[in-house]
Amino acid sequence: MQVKKAVIPAAGMGTRFLPATKVQPKEMLPIVDVPTIQYVVEEAVRAGITEILIITGRSKRAIEDHFDKSVELEALLEQKGKNKELAEMQRISNLADIFYVRQKEALGLGHAVACARNFVGREPFAVLLGDDIVHAEIPVIGQLIDIYNKKSATVLGCQRVGFDNIQKYGAVDAEDFSEPVVQVRSLTEKPNPAEAKSDLAVLGRYVIDPEIFDILNVTPPGAGGEIQLTDALNLLARQQSVWAYSFEGRRYDVGDRLGYIEATIEYALRREDLAPQLKTFLKSLTF
Ligand code: G1P
Repeated sequence: MQVKKAVIPAAGMGTRFLPATKVQPKEMLPIVDVPTIQYVVEEAVRAGITEILIITGRSKRAIEDHFDKSVELEALLEQKGKNKELAEMQRISNLADIFYVRQKEALGLGHAVACARNFVGREPFAVLLGDDIVHAEIPVIGQLIDIYNKKSATVLGCQRVGFDNIQKYGAVDAEDFSEPVVQVRSLTEKPNPAEAKSDLAVLGRYVIDPEIFDILNVTPPGAGGEIQLTDALNLLARQQSVWAYSFEGRRYDVGDRLGYIEATIEYALRREDLAPQLKTFLKSLTF
């Protein structure tokens, strides 16, 4: 079945980015001049997704406004003859059919995804987490959809993160790690590094079969007292095959201060309008 729908959980409080996230959603923090959530939405759209559900919470109104048509702004840009900017604003408000639902309590990622049940129905669906931004020629979620189409089973987007970092992620256990696509034996959310079976981490991209919803309904709170998507996927892997796919692309953890700064610098260096001057500035820095 074709993957047409994507779910983007965006209800987190952004406590790792205070005070910047005191009044604005962390998903609206820009990398150069584009809010992080726009990169995620555009990745989904480039992969052929046509319907997107953003799971929001209180104080996330700016996300809805960002993807909405801004009548006043468009009129102003038109009046000033700023046609390039006008076209860009119109493009953003027409990216996809975007729906919103509120997660009423911060009970974890698994609980947030469970809020998408009615939107998803009985189809496989993509999940993209906004803390992970990936620069890739082929959008990562598109790479996962290709694997899904071959396997007809749930696929998790993964990369190795090193054993020093694995306790921040969902970790994969598999029989054999030699191929880019391996069958998942089990998953552990935020394992103790000494107990982690591998350093292959699930990095914010998933294509999931709808059977996950029944499992999420009965998944007890796990790491951090939250209902974890990883725990539900671990249960799913006992019922049907689940695949871990090592995707191609440079991934940034923009939920982390340093990852965010790295992403900002590298994305700016990829921009023709900024790269020459930024390079000169960076070279001039002495430590
Ligand atoms: C979440 C998931 C985790 C995944 C990570 C990817 O964790 O629970 O399995 O590896 O995103 O970035 P969080 O970063 O919300 O703690």
